Amino acid sequence: MDKLVIEGGVPLSGTVTISGAKNAALPILTAALLTGEALIVENVPHLRDVSTMLNLLMQMGVTTSLDEKGGVELRAEKITDPVAPYELVKTMRASVLVLGPLVARLGEARVSLPGGCAIGLRPVDQHLKGLQAMGATIAMEEGYMIARAGRLKGARICMDLVTVTGTENLMMAATLADGVTVIENAAREPEVPDLAACLTAMGAKISGAGTDVITVEGVERLHGARHSVMPDRIETGTFLVAVAATGGDVRLTGVRPDTLDAVLGKLREMGVSIETGSDWIQVRANGAKKAVNVRTAPYPAFPTDMQAQFMALNSVAQGASRVVETIFENRFMHVQELQRLGANIEVEGNTAVIKGVAGLNGATVMATDLRASASLVVAGLIARGKTTIERIYHLDRGYERIEEKLSKLGARIRRVN
Ligand code: UD1
Repeated sequence: MDKLVIEGGVPLSGTVTISGAKNAALPILTAALLTGEALIVENVPHLRDVSTMLNLLMQMGVTTSLDEKGGVELRAEKITDPVAPYELVKTMRASVLVLGPLVARLGEARVSLPGGCAIGLRPVDQHLKGLQAMGATIAMEEGYMIARAGRLKGARICMDLVTVTGTENLMMAATLADGVTVIENAAREPEVPDLAACLTAMGAKISGAGTDVITVEGVERLHGARHSVMPDRIETGTFLVAVAATGGDVRLTGVRPDTLDAVLGKLREMGVSIETGSDWIQVRANGAKKAVNVRTAPYPAFPTDMQAQFMALNSVAQGASRVVETIFENRFMHVQELQRLGANIEVEGNTAVIKGVAGLNGATVMATDLRASASLVVAGLIARGKTTIERIYHLDRGYERIEEKLSKLGARIRRVN
C-alpha cells in the first residue's frame, strides 16, 4: 500500500494549476444516464472516485471513451443493468447519484444502501422522500433501495435539511419529469449550478440553481452536450492552507476565487496575504499566523471539506481557536493523528479547541478519510523531520497527483510503496 513521506519545513513557491472539481465531476458524469446521446465532459480530474464512477456507469452499459481534446465521452444508449452494487457504493457514497437519473430515464433503479461511513451516518432519506413526491415507489430488499416509477411527475419538494447530492439527484430526476418541480431548501454549493449548466446544455429547463429554490420544468427528452467541469474549490483551499502553513509565495491558476469567500476570509483573518483575479489567486504567507475560529455550515459558509486542513493550520497558529463541525458527526478523526505530531487539541462533542504550539514534529500517522488525509499532508509539510502518512488511498480518491504538485512548489514529498 502506498505511503507518503514528507520532510517538512520548506516554504512553498511557484505556480500550481488546480484540477477539475471531484464533487462537480461525479454528478455530471451520472447526468450521462439521462440521454442516449453523447455527453462529453472536459476538465475531469484523474481521481480514484472518478474511476469508480466510470466503472459503475460502464457496468450499467454506458460506453466511455476519450475524445481528441481529452474530454470523457459517455454514451448511455442502452442501460442494461440499472444497479449500483454494494461493492462500489461502500467505497464511494456518491454512487447514490445514479438513482435520480436512472428512475427518470428508465423508471427503475437498484442502489445499495451506503451503510455506515467513517465520517458519520450520512443517510439518504431526503433523496428518497423527493423521488416519492415525484411518484416513485421505494422498496428495501436485501440492503438495496429499489425505486420504480412510470414517468415521474413534477412536485413541490421541501428538503428537511441542506443536502448536496440530494439536491443534485432530485434536480436530475426532475429534468425528465412531467411538469414543474420546485426544490426548496436546496443546496447552494457551486457544484449544483455547475451540474445545472451541464443539464441546461443537454436541453433541461432549470432556474434558480445556486439559490435555495430551484425550479425545473421537465422536458420529454435530453440530448448530447459538451461541458467543462468547474475548478475544484477544495483542492484550491487545501493548497492555500499548505502555503499558509509553510510560508512562501504561490500562484494558483485555473481557479474560481468567487467560490471560496469563506475560506479566503479566514486566511486573511489569520494574516495571510491573498490577491485574486478572475481565475487565479496569489497567496503570500510570512511570519506568524493568528488562530481563527471556524464553524462549518452549508455553502456559502465555511465548508466541512476544509475543516481538517484548517485544524492543522490552527495547531501552529498564535493563540487558541475553536473549530465547530455542524455537518457531519465524527469528522474529527484527524485529531488523534495531529496530536501524534505534537498538536494540542481537545475535542468535546462537535467542538475542537486548539491551542497553538510553536511547531510540530514528524511521526508516522494514518489517513482515515479523504479530508483528514489532506490535513495530515499539511501537518507533514509543517513538521520538523520526517512524517510518514499511511493509507493514502483515501487521498487518491480526491486529490490529483498531490505529491507531484507539491514537489513542483519545492516541498520534499515522495510516494513510496
Ligand atoms: C457532499 C460532498 C461532500 C461534502 C458534503 C457536505 C459530493 C460528492 N460530496 O456530500 O464532499 O462533505 O456534501 O458539504 O458532493 N443528510 C441526511 N439525509 C439525506 C442526505 C443528507 O440526513 O438524505 C445529512 C448527512 O448525514 C449530513 C448532511 O445531511 O449530515 C449533509 O450531507 P450531504 O450534503 O448530503 O453530503 P453529500 O451530498 O453526501
